[in-house]
Amino acid sequence: MAPHVGNLSFLSVLNLTLTNLTGPIPAELGLASCQCLQVLDSSANSFVDVVPTWLAKLPRLQVLELGANKLIGSIPASLRNLTSLSRIDMPYNNLTGEIPPELGLIQELSHLHLGTNQLTGDNKLIGGLPVEISNISSLARLGVENNLLTGPIPESIAMLENLGWLDLSGNDMLGPIPAQMGLLGSLERLSFHANKLSGSIPSSFGNLSLLENIDLSSKQLSSMIPASLFHLDKLITLDISHNYFVGALPVDVSGLRQVYQMDISSNFLIGSTPDSLGQLSMLIYLNLSHNSFKGSIPGPLKKLSSLASLDLSFNNLSGSIPTFLANFTYLTTLNLSFNSLEGQIPEGGVFSNLTLQSLIGNVGLCGAPRLDLSTCLDIPHSRNKHVLQILLPTLTLAFGAIAICIYLLFGKKPKGGEDKHFVNANDVIGHQIVSYHELIRATNSFSEDNILGCGSFGKVFKGQLSTGLVVAIKVIDVQLEQASQTFDAECQVLRMVRHRNLIKILNTCSNLDFKALVLQYMPNGSLEMLLHQTKSAVRLGFLERLCIMLDVSMAMDYLHHEYYNLILHCDLKPSNVLFDEEMTAHVADFGIARLILDDNSMTCVSMPGTVGYMAPEYGSLGKASRKSDVFSYGIMLLEVFTGRKPTDAIFGAQLTLRQWVHRAFPAELVQVVDVQLLQGSSLSSCNRDGGFLASVFELGLICSSDLPDHRMTMHDVVVVLKKIKADYTKLSHPFSNLNKTKERRVLNQEGKIDSNTVSYHPVAF
Ligand SMILES: *[C@@H]1O[C@H](CO)[C@@H](O)[C@H](O)[C@H]1NC(C)=O
Ligand SMILES: *[C@@H]1O[C@H](CO)[C@@H](O)[C@H](O)[C@H]1NC(C)=O
Ligand SMILES: *[C@@H]1O[C@H](CO)[C@@H](O)[C@H](O)[C@H]1NC(C)=O
Ligand SMILES: *[C@@H]1O[C@H](CO)[C@@H](O)[C@H](O)[C@H]1NC(C)=O
Ligand SMILES: *[C@@H]1O[C@H](CO)[C@@H](O)[C@H](O)[C@H]1NC(C)=O
Ligand SMILES: *[C@@H]1O[C@H](CO)[C@@H](O)[C@H](O)[C@H]1NC(C)=O
Ligand SMILES: *[C@@H]1O[C@H](CO)[C@@H](O)[C@H](O)[C@H]1NC(C)=O
Ligand SMILES: *[C@@H]1O[C@H](CO)[C@@H](O)[C@H](O)[C@H]1NC(C)=O
Ligand SMILES: *[C@@H]1O[C@H](CO)[C@@H](O)[C@H](O)[C@H]1NC(C)=O
Ligand SMILES: *[C@@H]1O[C@H](CO)[C@@H](O)[C@H](O)[C@H]1NC(C)=O
Repeated sequence: MAPHVGNLSFLSVLNLTLTNLTGPIPAELGLASCQCLQVLDSSANSFVDVVPTWLAKLPRLQVLELGANKLIGSIPASLRNLTSLSRIDMPYNNLTGEIPPELGLIQELSHLHLGTNQLTGDNKLIGGLPVEISNISSLARLGVENNLLTGPIPESIAMLENLGWLDLSGNDMLGPIPAQMGLLGSLERLSFHANKLSGSIPSSFGNLSLLENIDLSSKQLSSMIPASLFHLDKLITLDISHNYFVGALPVDVSGLRQVYQMDISSNFLIGSTPDSLGQLSMLIYLNLSHNSFKGSIPGPLKKLSSLASLDLSFNNLSGSIPTFLANFTYLTTLNLSFNSLEGQIPEGGVFSNLTLQSLIGNVGLCGAPRLDLSTCLDIPHSRNKHVLQILLPTLTLAFGAIAICIYLLFGKKPKGGEDKHFVNANDVIGHQIVSYHELIRATNSFSEDNILGCGSFGKVFKGQLSTGLVVAIKVIDVQLEQASQTFDAECQVLRMVRHRNLIKILNTCSNLDFKALVLQYMPNGSLEMLLHQTKSAVRLGFLERLCIMLDVSMAMDYLHHEYYNLILHCDLKPSNVLFDEEMTAHVADFGIARLILDDNSMTCVSMPGTVGYMAPEYGSLGKASRKSDVFSYGIMLLEVFTGRKPTDAIFGAQLTLRQWVHRAFPAELVQVVDVQLLQGSSLSSCNRDGGFLASVFELGLICSSDLPDHRMTMHDVVVVLKKIKADYTKLSHPFSNLNKTKERRVLNQEGKIDSNTVSYHPVAF
């Protein structure tokens, strides 16, 4: 191994995050950090200053993070000179003036985030987003939310063909939503709420087939909601509340089969609520309140058994309250007030805790002695009418359901044997009709041969559904005390989050004494197996290991920082990292995960994580936080590059894996690095490569620091790993432009990872 190991002589990353620095940003930084600085991160300090113009003299700067300081003044136009910049993050400051049109000249820019400042247009009255921004063809994320932009959305924005994330919310932008936006085919997240946009939602939105989140609330949009909006089958949240939409909902809204949160409240919608809502089986939150819907609450809503919140208040719904609502186990918020509902209030379930506030304003309701409502009188002659009203739709529904089952069981069966594995997982999502019997059939009566693994709360089986799709079925042992708690936690988290590096939930099957999760099948085992099963004969190179840990860090970054609510995994370890056909890593097992709704990032947990990977404060005090996940990640990083588990026999109270690495860092790293990495790899032949190992170990050591404050954020981990990877690939493949080729790692016939091909991960959202 190289004598130069650990020689980090050139400063390329300067991270000053959360160091409580105050005053102006020292100008010496501009000189001292020389020509090599590529990442400058001094977010979350108290720098009070204008954005320094000397930044424009750091020619290799790629990442500029100055968020959450107290910066004032305008954004210097000279940043245009930084042609390598890929990321500008300056949210949460007090920046004023216009967004410099010159930024449009930075062709490599992929992230531009200037939210929560006081930016205005060039003309305070009608100044908006400069059209020049539309010229940055690599832009993947544009966030200028919570500023003072007025003016319309430039039509040219449609040129940003790589745009995945657009947030213009909380401005005062005027005018229509350009119809050309239908061309933004990469768009996944769109937020325009709290502006003054008017006009209709362009029907071209139906073209945005990758859209996952739409937030168009609090605006002055009007006219009909285009039916094409309800065909977006990747959509998971839809918020078009507080507008002036008129007309009825389309009869068929079933296209939104992944949507879990839907808010169309406070509009002027009429007509009946479509029966097809009952097919949106992922729904957790549905708000139709403050409209003019009429007719009865549709019977097919019976299938929405995942609902946690249903608000139908302030409409003109009639008929009785369906009793199935009492059977929804997750339903905790129900508001039926101010309608024309009548008849008996059901008992049990959500109704046992319901207050008058949720039922008020319906003259015909009776029952519920707890609430002092009148008891129900049995009126015989009106009964027959009711029976018919209920019986007819029920019969139709029953035949409908049978027809759907027959279609699902036989209609979709693939004809040939070979293409069985290629049935699209999406075909299964959305039809929550997987029954206990189907699972029995799929797993050959839960036969031992089908067992993929055993955990503390149950077993995981491999199974093939009747659609042909091969899945993993996690059966929870309901006898165990905490089992249903883990089931609920995992369901809740997985139903909501979507990320390419998180395992996907396809279905659930739950009743009183049987609970199972149907998950995406991961044919290539876990990281634990890959690292420690000596027979597996897979030789993992430096780059493969780096890519795996980058995959994991991106999933964690998403859970910690990108998702609406903070999600803590609480049990990150190599056996919870699984590989799909393409050896892409997916973080799995959310059995003890925590969803934290208020951003109080610390929580107390009763169920422990795993010895060796648990942060000290989590192990001893039960305090989980983002930083305790980072600790587990750091230990895993050390394990991946040393090949030693934290529970290895050579470690104990006197010497932990971290201390062992720390002692060797940086000069003696050759003593601790996994020998596989030294054998025949470029790492031993090329001295300079040793620096990459040192960077990785340094990252692992920082992340696994005893003090939570010393650990990095997952967000920064992603930045550092991407940088190491970019430098490494540049050095080992100087002539290939990896950013442009999307090769994939493949397993060759002996199950080895073919190290000649390298995967490139596009920026994940
Ligand atoms: C920064 O200041 C806060 C409060 O003033 C303090 O709790 C924290 O420990 C300080 N952090 C560092 C790294 O000094
Ligand atoms: C921005 O300035 C205003 C007053 O000028 C101040 O109240 C506010 O705290 C500042 N915001 C930040 C993030 O510094
Ligand atoms: C930016 O580049 C222009 C021309 O390339 C040059 O005139 C100007 O001085 C540079 N600005 C800074 C701050 O380096
Ligand atoms: C966008 O780029 C093209 C060529 O690259 C140039 O002709 C055009 O003027 C630019 N538009 C703006 C608004 O900067
Ligand atoms: C929708 O997409 C198609 C092809 O992707 C394109 O030809 C068409 O112009 C788009 N429609 C609108 C209204 O943007
Ligand atoms: C539904 O939307 C209305 C306003 O549109 C809001 O007041 C109400 O709180 C929402 N209901 C729930 C349960 O979030
Ligand atoms: C509600 O429906 C009843 C009859 O179905 C109708 O008479 C009444 O006008 C409706 N109220 C509103 C506010 O639409
Ligand atoms: C509610 O659940 C019980 C027990 O599972 C079942 O007997 C009953 O039919 C269900 N009621 C409705 C309205 O679905
Ligand atoms: C009713 O409320 C109590 C206390 O707030 C809670 O423990 C219980 O789970 C609730 N029951 C239902 C069915 O929501
Ligand atoms: C139900 O909705 C009505 C009207 O939107 C509101 O006044 C009431 O407070 C809500 N009830 C609950 C329990 O949130």
